[in-house]
Amino acid sequence: MQKRAELYSGKAKTVYTTEDPEHLVLEFRDDTSAFDGEKVERLARKGAVNNRFNGFIMERLQAAGIPTHFERLLGEREALVKRLDMLPVECVIRNISAGSLCRRLGVAEGLDLEPPVFEFFLKNDALHDPMINDSHILTFGWATAAEIRRMKELTREVNGVLQPLFREAGLLLVDYKLEFGRFRGELLLGDEFSPDGCRLWDAKTREKLDKDRFRQGLGSVVESYEEVARRLGIGMTASS
Ligand code: TMP
Ligand code: ASP
Repeated sequence: MQKRAELYSGKAKTVYTTEDPEHLVLEFRDDTSAFDGEKVERLARKGAVNNRFNGFIMERLQAAGIPTHFERLLGEREALVKRLDMLPVECVIRNISAGSLCRRLGVAEGLDLEPPVFEFFLKNDALHDPMINDSHILTFGWATAAEIRRMKELTREVNGVLQPLFREAGLLLVDYKLEFGRFRGELLLGDEFSPDGCRLWDAKTREKLDKDRFRQGLGSVVESYEEVARRLGIGMTASS
């Protein structure tokens, strides 16, 4: 399927229309942003790595019965997806304390969270993605009560698939963010799953192998993403 017009350019991906109104092409760029777009850099190979990473994870989720927008990889940095009507909320699950949870609640980093913490955030960079709850979502019409239930259910199901997958690769899935959208009356997982939108630590050393390397200026950002991909057995060439 061929790209037609650019529909939308986000911080790390550009979205194109295709000849089919129900499908879009996602292009994963090398641009890497943090702090709601305040820190931006271009990191060589990141787009290609995240495209493959996302394809691998989406296929695993799909195989486990989680409905996603992913159709197939199209090239080094492009994927074909279903066109969703995206909900303006982000779903975050935390298995281990880190990031904004520690800042907000004053808890130490690295605590096991049992049961995992679930949080909603409003997708709005200008407002720095504020945390919201079910009541805000209902009152402002960002999703229905049934969609809220479904987002929570699917986010937990994703955890049940991905936690063991990463664990077997010697990695701790600390937290991650998911976005959902409507397609023909059903809620599907959209956007991407890559080290740009999750935290992954080495299970033994707890070394950070995700976008915190970029946020915190630790260096070797893409090299770490590639290390995670290698451990998961994700091939990095177009033929593998
Ligand atoms: P946080 O600790 O900054 O709230 O983020 C929790 C997890 O969700 C972390 O893995 C990063 C991811 N995330 C995004 O990728 N984009 C976002 O806009 C938000 C709010 C979180
Ligand atoms: N929404 C944030 C951003 O600007 C997420 C992050 O800090 O990674 O990229």
